[in-house]
Amino acid sequence: MSLLENINKDKLPEHIAIIMDGNGRWAKLKGNKRIFGHKNGVAGVKNSSEACAELGVKYLTLYAFSTENWNRPKLEVNALMELLVSTIHSETKTLIKNDIKLNAIGQISELPEKAQRELQDAINATSNCKRLTLTLALSYSSKVEILNAVKRIATEVKLNKLDVNDISDNLFSSYLNTYNLPDPDLMIRTSGEQRISNFLLWQLAYSELYFTETLWPDFSKEDLYKAIITYQSRERRFGKTSEQILK
Ligand code: FPP
Repeated sequence: MSLLENINKDKLPEHIAIIMDGNGRWAKLKGNKRIFGHKNGVAGVKNSSEACAELGVKYLTLYAFSTENWNRPKLEVNALMELLVSTIHSETKTLIKNDIKLNAIGQISELPEKAQRELQDAINATSNCKRLTLTLALSYSSKVEILNAVKRIATEVKLNKLDVNDISDNLFSSYLNTYNLPDPDLMIRTSGEQRISNFLLWQLAYSELYFTETLWPDFSKEDLYKAIITYQSRERRFGKTSEQILK
């Protein structure tokens, strides 16, 4: 039986989030520069988004650039921004063809203007697409996202627009960049690292975590299938007992 046939279509994760890691090491193994790894990382982006769209996973969120990544050498940061612009430009038609809606979270205003424009154009062009929502986390920091939510909520309380007693899990979630996305059911990190790295700290509270040694440029549809099969073998208890879940 192929990996694909082992997936239970009735138990698909609704939202998969991925920390794409290992581009630099992949390039080094090939005796090449880091940016060569990032260029080849676009294959992983295409493989994972196509596989999600084909399977019926509704949301895919990719950690493409963290606020901490701004501290990388200028040459690498510039090359990554150019890669973002050129990839979005060349792939918008394919996104529309595959009915994939593009979305972005993070401090988008920190990106170079050209990248902001290209991103906004692609977001507008795909706004009516329905099969999959592909969210890119760009200049993203979960701690910053949470702090910004706290500041907005505190301001509204101070102005008597919000009652402290109304601050709930749901209300807080609605102040995050991800207000229009369900929390991820499955979070994948490639390259063998086992960290969250300031990614969706609030939203991952009950997500299943899956780590693979595969380096991101090698991430294939089969790698995604393996992650989903492992996810489906796990019992999600959300703090309850096994007996309560099986009732
Ligand atoms: C992590 O690998 C990867 C990144 C910081 C960038 C991710 C970018 C891409 C996959 C390409 C373009 C993406 C889009 C959405 C067009 P790393 O550099 O940290 O690898 P290392 O840990 O081996 O050094």
